[in-house]
Amino acid sequence: MTAASREAPGGKTAAQRKVFIKTYGCQMNVYDSTRMADALSAGGFVETADHRDADLIVLNTCHIREKAAEKVYSEIGRLRLIKEQNAAAGRQMTIAVAGCVAQAEGEEIVRRAPSVDVVIGPQSYHRIDSAVARARKGEKVVETDYAVEDKFDKLPQSSRQGIRARGVTAFLTVQEGCDKFCTFCVVPYTRGSEVSRPVSQIVAEAERLAGAGVREVTLLGQNVNAWHGEGPDGREWGLGELLFRLAKISGIARLRYVTSHPRDMDDGLIAAHRDLAELMPYLHLPVQSGSDRVLKAMNRRHTADDYLRLVDRIRHARSDIAMSGDFIVGFPGESDDDFDATMDLVRQVGYAQAYSFKYSRRPGTPGASLDGQVDENVMNERLQHLQSLLVRQQSDFSAGLVGRTIDLLIEKPGRNSGQLVGRSPWLQPVVIAETDGAIGEIIDVQITRAASNSLFAVPA
Ligand code: 5AD
Ligand code: SF4
Repeated sequence: MTAASREAPGGKTAAQRKVFIKTYGCQMNVYDSTRMADALSAGGFVETADHRDADLIVLNTCHIREKAAEKVYSEIGRLRLIKEQNAAAGRQMTIAVAGCVAQAEGEEIVRRAPSVDVVIGPQSYHRIDSAVARARKGEKVVETDYAVEDKFDKLPQSSRQGIRARGVTAFLTVQEGCDKFCTFCVVPYTRGSEVSRPVSQIVAEAERLAGAGVREVTLLGQNVNAWHGEGPDGREWGLGELLFRLAKISGIARLRYVTSHPRDMDDGLIAAHRDLAELMPYLHLPVQSGSDRVLKAMNRRHTADDYLRLVDRIRHARSDIAMSGDFIVGFPGESDDDFDATMDLVRQVGYAQAYSFKYSRRPGTPGASLDGQVDENVMNERLQHLQSLLVRQQSDFSAGLVGRTIDLLIEKPGRNSGQLVGRSPWLQPVVIAETDGAIGEIIDVQITRAASNSLFAVPA
């Protein structure tokens, strides 16, 4: 079938067009991908899991580290071949690059990879449908405007059907952008300054999610705990107050939020951890380094001791809270002593889960021009050291749950028949056999075994 024969007169779609969306990077991108799918469905696109079959491919990209950005170009290279094969068979395939690489590199992407038809930044997703339509008529479209139009207002709300298809857990963006300017990070440049979404919009979206069967909502933001807004009582709310409000929505049993900055962990949020049963006892609170010298050079605006005292306060409020974090090794100027300080901090906190990275020099960030870039081999060694400690802590945490009864939100069928898979309060996947429980229910289970990335359980 040719591309032309797929178009009915008047621009209506004769056959449904298919879009394949590949998401890289953070949960914010996962959320944005579902929103782009919703925006495109208005123009007649349905999602497909097979990229070969797609009329439109969207790569929702990540720019946080060099490797992440480079992956996109190799993927475009592979897609170019498929696009050419399709074109030879008379099928038009459109390639769109979205996300932070699109925002950061703009026109450069089309120059470097001419098979790309659309480049669209995160602030312009409400225009993706028309951008694709223009591209399908032969135009190269680059939309990386930074006019802070309210993207939140313009994107269509998730359709009930879309939500159903996506299951019992959902992301909900409450905040975007970052004003912290850590010296290693591109986010303030790619995602812009901090913007909080209004309470009424967030509540309406959470109610819609709950109405479609969602039981667990994860609030998202690059700096989610910097969220603030005017409550219906006329007072300024922080994330803590927002969580209390969302917990009142019937059907919503679990709440989470990610990603937080230590500076924005205020009393209201800590009180929510103490008093709100719906708020899961798991906190991703990146520290990046345990050395005050490095933290200062990173412009983190807190010391290692500030962080440790904060973790103590949070644990005091909610004793079973599990900590998660992000770490960077090899920031410019990091000495062996600085790295040891990171290892010390990790030992003191005891993480249930963590991400760790080698420093990646990002052009345009202040860190890129600092002296004392650390040798690659030294970075590799430090990363290995740190990761083996973090992996040990993670498996100790999981092993500590064996024999305990915990509550589990059942999410989906497991690999083997009769199995179901759910999540623990601490975000671990748990496999359970022989249960009467159904997807969406929260049941008590007893943990019988801990494997490296999941737990096994029986009904309690
Ligand atoms: N190099 C390495 N890691 C980085 N991160 C952000 N920027 C960089 C960089 N330039 C890590 C931080 C952050 C996480 C999302 O990615 O640890 O918390
Ligand atoms: Fe990047 Fe720092 Fe902002 Fe996090 S707080 S997004 S690491 S600049």
